[in-house]
Amino acid sequence: MDNFRFYVPTDIRFGKDRLATELTDVLNAYGKNVLLVYGGGSIKKNGLYDQVIDLLEKNQNTVVELSGVEPNPRIETVRRGVALCRENDVDLILAVGGGSTIDCSKVIAAGFYSDEDPWEVIKGRKGFQGEALPIVTILTLAATGSEMNGGAVITNLATNQKLGVGGPAMMPKVSFLDPTTTFTVPAYQTAAGSADILSHLVESYFNITEGTDVQDFVSEGLMRAVIKNCPIALVTPDDYDARANLMWSSSLALNGLTRNGKHGVWSCHAMEHELSAFYDITHGIGLAILTPRWMNYVLSEQTVSKFAQFAQNVWGIDEEEPMLAAKKGIQATYDFFKACDIPMTLPAVGIDEEKFGEMAKQAVAHSTIKTDAFVPLAESDVEAIYRECL
Ligand code: NZQ
Ligand code: ZN
Repeated sequence: MDNFRFYVPTDIRFGKDRLATELTDVLNAYGKNVLLVYGGGSIKKNGLYDQVIDLLEKNQNTVVELSGVEPNPRIETVRRGVALCRENDVDLILAVGGGSTIDCSKVIAAGFYSDEDPWEVIKGRKGFQGEALPIVTILTLAATGSEMNGGAVITNLATNQKLGVGGPAMMPKVSFLDPTTTFTVPAYQTAAGSADILSHLVESYFNITEGTDVQDFVSEGLMRAVIKNCPIALVTPDDYDARANLMWSSSLALNGLTRNGKHGVWSCHAMEHELSAFYDITHGIGLAILTPRWMNYVLSEQTVSKFAQFAQNVWGIDEEEPMLAAKKGIQATYDFFKACDIPMTLPAVGIDEEKFGEMAKQAVAHSTIKTDAFVPLAESDVEAIYRECL
């Protein structure tokens, strides 16, 4: 296991009925002028917007709104947010939504203090060390883990780039995780979010660092929780415990708990971000399509033991021959996504082979998968994996 520092200061307020009694006290610690950030309107349909506005009015907050944050949030929206913060002397950002709303808020928060265009903040990539406005989140979709980490992913459609940035100041100060706010998440987004959570766990699980039983066994448990609860939430969207388990696994899957102590980069995310950058598809769907194909591609005598462990401990596959067990585990992964009604080919989400070469080139250029992945992937490997998804 590698050395690591695990410092996640986000204050998690988990459970139902907390907003009414806790939200305004939380906000008052940072100031009165609030930028309220949200997406395309789901919070207006399910009543959360009215509830939040009502609380802010009673608390005499000054509220400026940035609405319409896109899934795969765009740099133009970040720029609008930075301008609003400056024009209105905003003290803090309240992000109400899924990963896209929270990510957009994080880069607005960092961009506020930067003299450069926010895209330059993104291009600075992972190690953002500057200041940021305080962020409070109300999560409405279990998926990215953005509610409890310092990362953000922003899209620049003009350049077909979807890039990640991250830093300690971008970590939310407080995140409200009320499972009832996810009752209205449609089945497609519930499945996509669950696939994203699973992918975050899988990406760190299949890693070159040895001796990480704690991280791996925690990951296996979290994966089983997602595999158990996603189908329940699909059939019964207002099952509180199913939604609660998905929500908490979302946060724990990407707050460092299962990733710290390991080195190396993720593979499927690097490949998926190019699909989203070029075709604007749903992140978790792209990951579900890629993951079993990537697993098959990197399965070999060198990697088989970890895949056999995955098959046994995550899927309960009882098979002694390791290669056979590994293949059954990969098939189970594919079958799970399929059973969640995820379209399991790239053409099914409107992607043909035309840009495979270009996307493969970008996936390698925007990451270090060629040298630092579980199994290093060159452009030709990425293109071959895309082809397996046809
Ligand atoms: O925009 P609204 O109207 O709110 O609708 C959203 C959106 O259409 C809807 N939705 C969210 N909560 C809902 C709801 N609909 C009904 N009821 C609710 N309670 O769901 C749709 C998708 O929302 P979005 O925020 O885009 O989804 P997600 O949370 O999956 O975020 C995806 C983005 O996060 C990035 C992805 O690349 C993508 O851009 N990621 C961020 C990470 C991070 N910050 O750590 C890591 C991830 O790997 C990922 O890359
Ligand atoms: Zn993800």
